[in-house]
Amino acid sequence: MSHERFERNSFILLIGILIVVSIGGLVQIAPLFWVDSTIEKVKGMRPYTPLEQAGRDIYVREGCYGCHSQMIRTLRDEVERYGHYSLAAESMYDHPFQWGSKRTGPDLARVGGRYSDQWHADHFNNPRALVPESIMPGYPWLNATPLVSGNIADRLKTLRIVGVPYTDDMIAKADTDLKAQIDPDSRPAREMLARYPKAKVLRYERTAGAAVTELDALIAYMQILGQMVDFATFDAAGPNLR
Ligand code: HEC
Repeated sequence: MSHERFERNSFILLIGILIVVSIGGLVQIAPLFWVDSTIEKVKGMRPYTPLEQAGRDIYVREGCYGCHSQMIRTLRDEVERYGHYSLAAESMYDHPFQWGSKRTGPDLARVGGRYSDQWHADHFNNPRALVPESIMPGYPWLNATPLVSGNIADRLKTLRIVGVPYTDDMIAKADTDLKAQIDPDSRPAREMLARYPKAKVLRYERTAGAAVTELDALIAYMQILGQMVDFATFDAAGPNLR
């Protein structure tokens, strides 16, 4: 009886268990990396503009995820407070994603469009100027720090390697598009918007003159959060189910 060998020797039994359990695990998990429907395609999702992407890098650098999540759960209280629950597709171009696991401050998944650019600028400079009881730290240096963006095209190219669909055109225009997003009503801004629908061209009192600042980038990122998918037309049952 071969199973007797397993029953008499706990080490062999352990190896046996590990093999069986990992086969089960592989069967369940491995296909998710290839099956196309793991992340349902949703209309409106696009790669971040160069400035939004740069802002996202600052968000990660400053550790904002330590206090803010970007993941609205499918619970009624969350949906009533923050808006439609988060879809998998909404973070499909995030490397790494910023779901977070701590909410000292509110969820930010749909903060885009909720406040003006000026509100964000003042809030980052000193949160207590707008929300007296706030315990969020101020980030006054962002406004005084020029954005390091010389490598933005390379950053987009790197994201393309991991699956973000930046086109050659987007990469070639990365630098122009980045600067266009702080230049409202200009031709470069209109061209940038044609490549990146719904991007927010910033309008607020900028103190640093012409140079793009880290604050510009972070505000551009805040303003796109939750804005790409149009929930007036989104159907959770999926277009194929009706
Ligand atoms: C120590 C925790 C903490 C950190 C770190 C932090 N925040 Fe906050 N944040 C808060 C709290 C608390 C609030 C709510 C009070 C307020 O509006 O200031 C808040 C509010 C906000 C709001 C307004 C949200 C809303 O819906 O009203 C935004 C936007 C925001 N934070 C962005 C950021 C960004 C970006 C960073 C990183 C640069 C950051 N926060 C870092 C705690 C934090």
